[in-house]
Amino acid sequence: MGGRAQAEAELSQLAAEIRYHEAAYRAGEPEIPDSAFDDLVERYQELADELGIDPAERIDARPGEDHTVGFETVTHRVPMLSLEKLSPNRRDSSGEPMPIGDQLSAWFRRRQKELEVQELPLIVEPKVDGISVSLSYVGGALQRAVTRGDGQRGDVITKQVSQLGTVPLKLDGVDRGELEIRGELYWPLTEFARFNETLDRPLINPRNGCAGMMKRKDPTGLEATGIRSFLYQVAWAQGVKLPRTQGEMLRWLADRGGEVYLSEVFQTGSDEEALRYCEEYQTRRESLDFDIDGMVIKIDDLGMYPRLGATGHHPHWGIAYKFPPERKPTKLLDIQVSVGKSGKLTPVAILEPVFVSGTTVSRASLHNFVELERKDVRVGDTVLVEKAGEIIPQVVEVDKSKRKRGTKRFVPPTECPTCGTEAVSEEIFVYCPNPACPDQVRERLRHFASRPAMDVDGLGEVLVDQLVDRLGVRSPDDLFRVEADALASLDRMGQKSAERVKAGLEQAKGRGLARVLNGLAIRHVGETMAEDLAAYFKTADALLDFAARYVAEDEEAVETVAPAKSTERGAIEGLARKSADSIFHELNSPAVRKVFEGLAEVGVDLSVHAADVREVADVAGKTFVLTGTLPTLKRTEATKLIKGAGGKVSGTVSKKTDYVVAGEEAGSKLAKAQSLGVEVIDEAALLALLGEAN
Ligand code: IVH
Repeated sequence: MGGRAQAEAELSQLAAEIRYHEAAYRAGEPEIPDSAFDDLVERYQELADELGIDPAERIDARPGEDHTVGFETVTHRVPMLSLEKLSPNRRDSSGEPMPIGDQLSAWFRRRQKELEVQELPLIVEPKVDGISVSLSYVGGALQRAVTRGDGQRGDVITKQVSQLGTVPLKLDGVDRGELEIRGELYWPLTEFARFNETLDRPLINPRNGCAGMMKRKDPTGLEATGIRSFLYQVAWAQGVKLPRTQGEMLRWLADRGGEVYLSEVFQTGSDEEALRYCEEYQTRRESLDFDIDGMVIKIDDLGMYPRLGATGHHPHWGIAYKFPPERKPTKLLDIQVSVGKSGKLTPVAILEPVFVSGTTVSRASLHNFVELERKDVRVGDTVLVEKAGEIIPQVVEVDKSKRKRGTKRFVPPTECPTCGTEAVSEEIFVYCPNPACPDQVRERLRHFASRPAMDVDGLGEVLVDQLVDRLGVRSPDDLFRVEADALASLDRMGQKSAERVKAGLEQAKGRGLARVLNGLAIRHVGETMAEDLAAYFKTADALLDFAARYVAEDEEAVETVAPAKSTERGAIEGLARKSADSIFHELNSPAVRKVFEGLAEVGVDLSVHAADVREVADVAGKTFVLTGTLPTLKRTEATKLIKGAGGKVSGTVSKKTDYVVAGEEAGSKLAKAQSLGVEVIDEAALLALLGEAN
């Protein structure tokens, strides 16, 4: 399978995993630690960026460290950003993988150029895997401790932090001025293990555990956890004299009673040496009493920071190095075939359990049958397993030297393993074409209830499974017909949770046509397509009426999608002829029509939601393309603002594009806009158009 197809397969797998874990989290039954969830989201975003996926097509992932109910939330004086990363997956403009060393030296050269210097001292520090904290001191006394939150606003955890006894409550020798120190709260491994032994239900891992402890409402006893801090930065200061380099700053913090790891830092003027230190540190990592998830390479001269600036995501004075994922051999016990919501059949490797990058892995996706064929993975083989982005298990390769005689090539299924219907092939994928297939039914209902679709509060995957298995729910409209008493009779449900689910369903009825369309898991209809269809047709009736005419080859309907003049684009945003055939056929099928009838019957709103749109004259009806990193807005946010003002967001630049909004590191889309003479604007100009500028 080609690089892009493989990346796309990984992206859709990641999306599925994120939705799954989000649902588990919302159901109060998280299966992975928050840090692993963050990694998933991060890897998803990285890959989606690489593939140039339209922001509106992406899943709307919640930032990992969120706000907790019951905690006071405050705005950070200086936002708590993330770090740019050296990525093993980055490719250069010709599509070749870019070695980490080349990425780092490109970063280093860019900084030399921006600063107009030859000599550029660097400092390398371990990246401690804990939770970020901001500590404000006034007159040297700790005033307030705040979590990172969403980077802009965090939760106040002063009582909790003060109780630890390991974060200085008073900075030695500082009696005046104000300053804000940033650092990481982390749980030393030995302390964590000791504490965990005292618990009936052990905590999953130190980072997760530390986050949980710091969000305990009652701080009593926190001093017994042994949680410590690791300070790395003064983010803001007034009336305090501070050193000029990061190296000296660490010493300054240490001299005032803060914890820093001076013995672990390395200073050099060469990017190559910095990288070597990072690579070598991996062996040292094993002997540390805390988890680190990489290294941070920073410019040592703090005076240069203001000149370097930042994007909305990361500052330009530092970059993170992540350790390469661990790879372990294990035995492939079986290859099973799973059925997805649109009937896609996916091979899954069943593995002899193996401990990789912090968790035990016993299943891994094999993506698709073409990929499986290419790798020639066979039952009984010894395979090497790693976690992509340190979280999704992958079978990287087969150790053919260990292959036993008599193993057989895997033969792709010719029928659905669940319902026995004859399978059909479409491009590289194989599908079960039976919409009533029990696995499809289950997956579709899970998707319907999920956050990007109908977002039914309280209706997680485990509950959906019970609804299917025990209450005979088959179709989305059935969900709305389930009685509270029936819900309350299910495992781990009571009257109260049943009522919550009923209330969640009631609320979901009003989410509008776009979300309903996305929720029905129609092939080629993702979030954006659903919104575009809803915006164009306004009601389900109009849409279904059109589908019938299109399928009957009504000239006007076909012309709407594919104008006779091939230079013109169809009237429906983003809809190509090929997907239109598939989409309208499926919409016109008796099964889908029946679902719409059922949804109307139970009172689900099947019209476009005008409430979200507050048309802005300069934006309404205009098509925007976003490229590069914008200084303050995330792509999803910019997309929402544009759409909310009645504009459209497209992934490709054409003559029909009205504006290209270019941020930092904008690539080929910017070049294309320039060659086509399309107006290029920046974030500030976009906000001005939207009337949001101040
Ligand atoms: S410098 C703009 N140095 O890593 C953020 N961060 O993605 C600048 N971290 O959550 C951070 N050890 O809390 C820096 N030696 C170190 C660090 C470190 C851990 C965490 C930080 C943040 C994340 C950055």
